Amino acid sequence: MPVPSAVSRKLLTWYDANARVLPWRVGPEARKAGKAPDPFRVWLSEIMLQQTTVATVAPRFEDFTTRWPRVEDMAAAPLDDILGQWAGLGYYARARNLHKCARVVAHEHKGAFPRHEVALRELPGVGPYTAAAIAAIAFDAPAVVMDGNIERVSARLFAIDTPLPKAKPELKNAIASVWPKKRSGDFAQALMDLGAGVCRPRNPDCGACPLSACCAAFAGGVQNGLPKKQKKAAKPTRRGVAYALVNHRGEMLFERRPEKGLLGGMLGLPGGDWRQGEPAPAPPVHARWTLAGAARHTFTHFHLELDVMRAPAPKGFRANNNQSWIAPDKARLPTVMKKAVEKALG
Ligand code: ADE
Repeated sequence: MPVPSAVSRKLLTWYDANARVLPWRVGPEARKAGKAPDPFRVWLSEIMLQQTTVATVAPRFEDFTTRWPRVEDMAAAPLDDILGQWAGLGYYARARNLHKCARVVAHEHKGAFPRHEVALRELPGVGPYTAAAIAAIAFDAPAVVMDGNIERVSARLFAIDTPLPKAKPELKNAIASVWPKKRSGDFAQALMDLGAGVCRPRNPDCGACPLSACCAAFAGGVQNGLPKKQKKAAKPTRRGVAYALVNHRGEMLFERRPEKGLLGGMLGLPGGDWRQGEPAPAPPVHARWTLAGAARHTFTHFHLELDVMRAPAPKGFRANNNQSWIAPDKARLPTVMKKAVEKALG
């Protein structure tokens, strides 16, 4: 089994030389020179990075922090400004929580983020992962941070072959056993960088890995098969419809989807939410609807086959409060809706 002190020493030495330069990060050299991370920037980056890639987030993070350099600035901003700035970063519920959390920290914590994982979890939009990440990265608390990358590193380092998600507690306990008391934040970020660049899901670069000499999977040559994943039940296929109403300017009628549920808060074509066993809703208006084609998309739990109907807007049609006319190339849309719009445009 890997020796704890050897793992943290080797990984931190590797991080000192190989840390990615990221806009929200205080690099190892500056950290050692005494520069403390700004908890506001750590929190903001972790919320933005939930389900969005580092490459996408980096420039957007700069935009956010230029506009709102401190948590008080964000708390004072109108919600609509935050939602506008969030466009293209995924679920708007996260942007709403971002605003709520900024207000709680500014008004109830005098602008200072709590230092402890348990207190951090009380904040809007901050779950177990984010709380641990803020505690470790912003405050160097010995919080064990688990994301997909770190789970993979743990599964390989300790050759844990219990399938995910059942393996989660085991993977956490294993990596906790080598988590250092000092430089906890750097250790967490080193694991993230290792998982992203070296201990990759496929073709891990074990030749470049600082931990290969203490890696149980590498010793047994089983790194490519880890972590194991529970076989998922086959996904069902649902059918649905999306209505593309086009006006004389070539704009399409979009509506904001309900906050709760699939693609919550995002823009889409009218057509309902494709629930299992529910008939497709009627078109938004009586018009000359024709079938433009079928769009296919796969969600986490089902495949969707979407009949895309198209019609010119009839004279006198007025969009309701939840609907707007937008040029299709200007609308910030989730992927399934981009596919539907492409079908509608032929
Ligand atoms: N992914 C999520 N959080 C991250 C961080 N702090 N650094 C790099 N990648 C991350």
